[in-house]
Amino acid sequence: MVNIQQAGTFKLGNKTINRMGYGAMQLAGSGVFGPPKDKKEAIAVLQAAIESGVNHIDTSDFYGPHITNQIIREALHPYSKELALVTKVGARRNEKGEWLPAFSKPELIQAVHDNLTNLGIEQIEVVNLRAMFDAHGPAEGSIAEPLSVLAELQKEGLIHHLGVSNVTANQIEEARSIAPIVCVQNQYNLVHRRDDALIDLLAKEGIAYIPFFPLGGFTPLQSSILEEVAVSLNATVMQVALAWLLQRSANILLIPGTSSTNHLQQNLAAAELILPSEAIAKLNKIAVNI
Ligand SMILES: NC(=O)c1ccc[n+]([C@@H]2O[C@H](COP(=O)([O-])OP(=O)(O)OC[C@H]3O[C@@H](n4cnc5c(N)ncnc54)[C@H](OP(=O)(O)O)[C@@H]3O)[C@@H](O)[C@H]2O)c1
Repeated sequence: MVNIQQAGTFKLGNKTINRMGYGAMQLAGSGVFGPPKDKKEAIAVLQAAIESGVNHIDTSDFYGPHITNQIIREALHPYSKELALVTKVGARRNEKGEWLPAFSKPELIQAVHDNLTNLGIEQIEVVNLRAMFDAHGPAEGSIAEPLSVLAELQKEGLIHHLGVSNVTANQIEEARSIAPIVCVQNQYNLVHRRDDALIDLLAKEGIAYIPFFPLGGFTPLQSSILEEVAVSLNATVMQVALAWLLQRSANILLIPGTSSTNHLQQNLAAAELILPSEAIAKLNKIAVNI
């Protein structure tokens, strides 16, 4: 069995988290909407992740909607004390599956309660506030009001820790002036490196950086350099992409998403892959070459 401990751990709030985790978004139907094609496989993916030592699962009640959390509950409840279930609020889906902001106080309260109910828990380990000022990525705008709503729910005991997602450095600073922030979840991977400076800053502050789309998301990463490096190391391109993130900074926690047990095992095995410095130097050229 793969030893995911090789990737090391990081303190997320007060839980020690294996840096190799799992993102549950791919468990919903196509376009993250509706039920999965193969529910048995979805349950098997979650159970295999836990059996391999994963203790960090990223989710949201807007995946499905509701369905992904219900599958997590069916597969894993009662949860082990070590498991950190991390969710996000701030968006909703309409009946056509379009993503819409859901930043009002009643929407945020409802979203937190929906996560608690569908996951079958009384407190969520981490809730990320997902900013939605621009569909294409982080954009400036105050998050003080919605974050204060979540901070109130934290005081009530429904949320253990808070994080932010799809945010700028200014928004992180604003959030930290309201409540402690344990993690930032933004888009980042080998070819999408806008947050390079931010990652280093957060590392100094002991805040976890959790890249979404670590494998490129809906359009998986493709690059001749990546392929060359993978062949030279007898690894897959996805494993190299994940190993690169692990070596990029110690505060990076991985949540690669997959609906397949086969892909899950391949991804977890990246915890054991050490990239030599020459390979890292080659890979670092991809961002400018693409
Ligand atoms: N905060 C946010 O706004 C936000 C946005 C997006 C995602 N997220 C979180 O981030 C997590 C990761 O993102 P993601 O799942 O969208 O993208 P990802 O991890 O970059 O890539 C997932 C895609 O790669 C494929 N894949 C996975 N492993 C593979 C392998 N070994 N070989 C070949 N293909 C493979 C998956 O297909 P298969 O199912 O066929 O393996 C899927 O199409 C999500 O699960 C979610 O929890 C957060």
